[in-house]
Amino acid sequence: MIEFRDVYMVYEKNWYALQGINLRIEKGEFVYVVGPSGAGKSTLLRLIYMDLFPTAGEVVVAGYSSSRIKPKEIPYLRRKIGVIFQDFKLLKDKNVYENVAFALEVIGTPRRKIKEKVLKVLAEVGISHKRHAFPYQLSGGEQQKVAIARALVRDPFILLADEPTGNIDPEGTREILELLKNINTSGTAVIMATHELSLIERFPRRLIRLEQGRIVEDTGVRS
Ligand SMILES: Nc1ncnc2c1ncn2[C@@H]1O[C@H](COP(=O)(O)OP(=O)(O)O)[C@@H](O)[C@H]1O
Ligand SMILES: [Mg+2]
Repeated sequence: MIEFRDVYMVYEKNWYALQGINLRIEKGEFVYVVGPSGAGKSTLLRLIYMDLFPTAGEVVVAGYSSSRIKPKEIPYLRRKIGVIFQDFKLLKDKNVYENVAFALEVIGTPRRKIKEKVLKVLAEVGISHKRHAFPYQLSGGEQQKVAIARALVRDPFILLADEPTGNIDPEGTREILELLKNINTSGTAVIMATHELSLIERFPRRLIRLEQGRIVEDTGVRS
């Protein structure tokens, strides 16, 4: 479902953020991406949702190739890829319900359908009781649950998580990992960049380790 074929990424002259990445990730996998700061984790994730295009080589996601995808096809691919970040990226002037609903409004989902889907996903992530709250009224863990709800409401087949627990306390971190596990069990591939080795020990899954833009370890599927 995701394939990297000899991928190189250069942001600035002579500085390789990724060099010679070859990788396959199948439908429904759970994959950790680890490595020191600057190793290329975020770059790898951004290439998957085609926020970036490789300098050399090819990334193929759900049949779309980075070399051949047309600009008008990119939004269709992105609809099917949920992304969450360390800093949540919620809209500050919208409440919880509106933040999640907005993800459907921008793709033209009918109003009645939006309400049904948003209420369902808020219940799934356990944040329904805060649906009228604004982001500043929520803890980090709660804000990340809203971000997860926003990603899930479009029924993605891949969820990318870029250090999702970096700003969350240990209790919130456990809850977020539990949610990501459940999302994966229901069939969505989860690819998570993280620093937190304790998470990985508690829930061992395939681990890809990057160092200076290269894969130095890939355990393959562990379940
Ligand atoms: N927008 C950018 N412009 C220039 N260099 C960048 C940019 N984003 C990342 N880099 C560089 O690419 C390398 C990999 O970065 P990144 O993928 O963010 O690593 P990680 O997420 O593992 O910390 C680093 O050397 C970083 O400085
Ligand atoms: Mg990063």
